[in-house]
Amino acid sequence: MKTFNLANFFTNAVLHNEARHKINLQADGAVLLDRNELPFELPQLLKDEIHAALGDVLLNRYPKPHNADLERLIAQYADVQPDHILATAGAGAAITTIFNAFADRYFVIPEPSFSLFDYHCRMNELKCIHWQLDDNYRYTFELFPNISEPAVIVIDSPNNPTGQCIEPALLQTLLEKYRFCLFVIDEVYFEFSGTTFKDLVDEYDNIIIVRSFSKAFGLAALRAGYLIASSKLLGHLRKLILPFSLNGYASQILSVILSNNQYLQLIQERVDDVVLYRDVLSTELERIGGELGFEIPASHANFVLLVFSSIGAGEKIYAKLLENNIHVLPVSPHVADRYLLRISVGTERENRKVLETMRSCM
Ligand SMILES: Cc1ncc(COP(=O)(O)O)c(C=O)c1O
Repeated sequence: MKTFNLANFFTNAVLHNEARHKINLQADGAVLLDRNELPFELPQLLKDEIHAALGDVLLNRYPKPHNADLERLIAQYADVQPDHILATAGAGAAITTIFNAFADRYFVIPEPSFSLFDYHCRMNELKCIHWQLDDNYRYTFELFPNISEPAVIVIDSPNNPTGQCIEPALLQTLLEKYRFCLFVIDEVYFEFSGTTFKDLVDEYDNIIIVRSFSKAFGLAALRAGYLIASSKLLGHLRKLILPFSLNGYASQILSVILSNNQYLQLIQERVDDVVLYRDVLSTELERIGGELGFEIPASHANFVLLVFSSIGAGEKIYAKLLENNIHVLPVSPHVADRYLLRISVGTERENRKVLETMRSCM
């Protein structure tokens, strides 16, 4: 083989990073609670409607580079003006575009938060400052880093993996103090918290809200999401987003779903169910947490975080769950002597299995 020096082309972080994603075998009977997905499949009737509509997609043609009809449907769902919407190939792709677009700026990133933020900064050697959450995993003004030049301030609300939202008053304070910064607010889990900052987009032209169809809509396989921002800001981002990245099938499926009021109602009912299951799961976990050595911050999303004060205690529970084919996510700790386990809310049966397995360790 002719040799080529890869080291000259990739950053050191890329060359020395271990594969981030482990393969998740979807073995029979596996309880998959590691990716914050919705545990319910689409109703068969809707699937049939989708399959029929897919026949209209011309596979030899590129999809529309700007699908205004789809963005109108998304705007209707999000309750914003259509020119405030940009459809994307998932929230992750939108975050990548934003990080690439402002690669010469500082990024302020909550810690702990969604791993993709930190990952982008490390892989591309971006300038990154962490905004440490407090001991109770809250956003606080006191711990906000000192910044004096234009930066991209990333806020995840509800925050993955802690499940907490930023207080509206704190966000308002930051928006006023840092008029020279761009605010990226990740609201991928907003349906489960019922709180959104989308209306601030009318008042501030330095906010981008990131949303996804992977979570409340239960469409993680589709790879679709959207941004909400001022039309001026979106006009610039539209030029930077990879053309045709939201594929024709995904656009068609979304159009079918977003035009179907019955399904939109079903989504709301499923979100209500998940919120109920989350609260039951949290209450039950709180009951056994003392004995098993963990606490759980109140979650406003479709997952809960177990904070173990001893690494050994956390590892023991993780191993026991895995042994029982229950897949949850160990999160890199932001405090060295803590062990964090994130558990997505599953069906009632799956949540019961989690609780029974954990109780068997008592
Ligand atoms: C906070 C947060 N933002 C963005 C994403 C990515 O969402 P998508 O599936 O739309 O790429 C995730 C996925 O888990 C997430 O937790």
